[in-house]
Amino acid sequence: MDNTFRMINDHAVGELSADIIFKIAALARKANEEYGSDQVYNASIGALTDDDGKLLINNTYYEVLKSLPNVYFADYAPMTGEPEFLDASIKACFRDVEVEGYKEAVAVMGGTAAIKHVFWNYGDDGDEILVTDWNWTPYNQIAYENKRVMRSFNMFTPDNKFDVAAMEESIETLMKKQKSVIVVLNFPAHNPTGYTPTKEEAQDMFDAVAKLGEKHKDKKIILLFDVAYMDFAGERGRDFIRAYKPMPNNVLSLFSYSLSKTATAYGLRTASLISLSSSADLAMEAKAAVTFSTRGTYTGCVRSAQLAFAKVVNDPALREQFEKEREGHVALVAKRAAAFLQEADKVGLKHSPYQSGFFISIPCEESNKITEELFEKKTFVAPMPKGLRLAICSMAEWKCAKLPAILADYVK
Ligand SMILES: Cc1ncc(COP(=O)(O)O)c(C=O)c1O
Repeated sequence: MDNTFRMINDHAVGELSADIIFKIAALARKANEEYGSDQVYNASIGALTDDDGKLLINNTYYEVLKSLPNVYFADYAPMTGEPEFLDASIKACFRDVEVEGYKEAVAVMGGTAAIKHVFWNYGDDGDEILVTDWNWTPYNQIAYENKRVMRSFNMFTPDNKFDVAAMEESIETLMKKQKSVIVVLNFPAHNPTGYTPTKEEAQDMFDAVAKLGEKHKDKKIILLFDVAYMDFAGERGRDFIRAYKPMPNNVLSLFSYSLSKTATAYGLRTASLISLSSSADLAMEAKAAVTFSTRGTYTGCVRSAQLAFAKVVNDPALREQFEKEREGHVALVAKRAAAFLQEADKVGLKHSPYQSGFFISIPCEESNKITEELFEKKTFVAPMPKGLRLAICSMAEWKCAKLPAILADYVK
């Protein structure tokens, strides 16, 4: 920050600076215009597109949405959310997985709002919030905006398993100085690595957290499962929920279930924050607190988006059609990922333990420098603190197959 006179207060940032990823995407677009898209490898933007870069859309959802009467678009939704939507979101999030405990849901304006409301309601000013070292970078911004700070812990052991010990140690360290510890866990189909835990790994995580809860009865642990990409993770995606076991009352699990990817409803800003607790009161407390935050932030969410989702989930024929469309999208991403991984193995390019999702990452030093060097190959990726993020969700399969050889020349 320079010494320019400002009207805004000290904690406000107030700069219209473009996100680095959007800047890189703009360069990629320019290269496309100059050289033609066949010459350009744009792995920078995390949106699911067809081979020509057009956004893929779940048409079933939009047909239902557009068939709703105008009043559903015009009217306010209840502050807590439409009851049918809340029930449908729990049904869609947990599917066939039975968990022991009390569940409550509240509508929020996208997963981003869920994260914001959790940071606000479960953390104190200045608190540190835990996240894996490979992470979705806006968590930092959301924390900053709410006077909290992100603190990362090592995500993978050398054999690419989730580093449960690192998580446990970080929670216990923070417990010594804070009343509560929020841990953000963005899996399955983690952004940016594509990691999805096995049931056994998740069991170890839940065991570790339950043990800490029992040991430090005067402290609280909040597990925020940011399941933004869960519906792109296939059957294995919900294995971590299958591993859930009842937790002590001072451990609360929250699931941020967003329609952004699930229903390709990115712009409709609709999600459900689902609480899961061994205590009915504490599950309900989450719903009440977030409803209050909703009132204090944006006064309710988009009614039509909620009602359309409820209609899809509750009508077997519509649901089948909706799932079928999404399965097509999932299969497309899987083909692109397989093409990339096969070639990466051939050229010896190390990559994250990808199972599913929109991104694969390449661990490396000096990711900013490499990102810039790659421009000369008309290749555009997103630099992360621990490596390069590749949005395979937006690249044709043949380009995914060629990318490893390009990257291998730059990543040592
Ligand atoms: C990991 C992760 N979490 C949360 C979000 C927030 O999505 P939304 O606010 O659109 O639900 C995103 C969006 O890209 C994401 O990648």
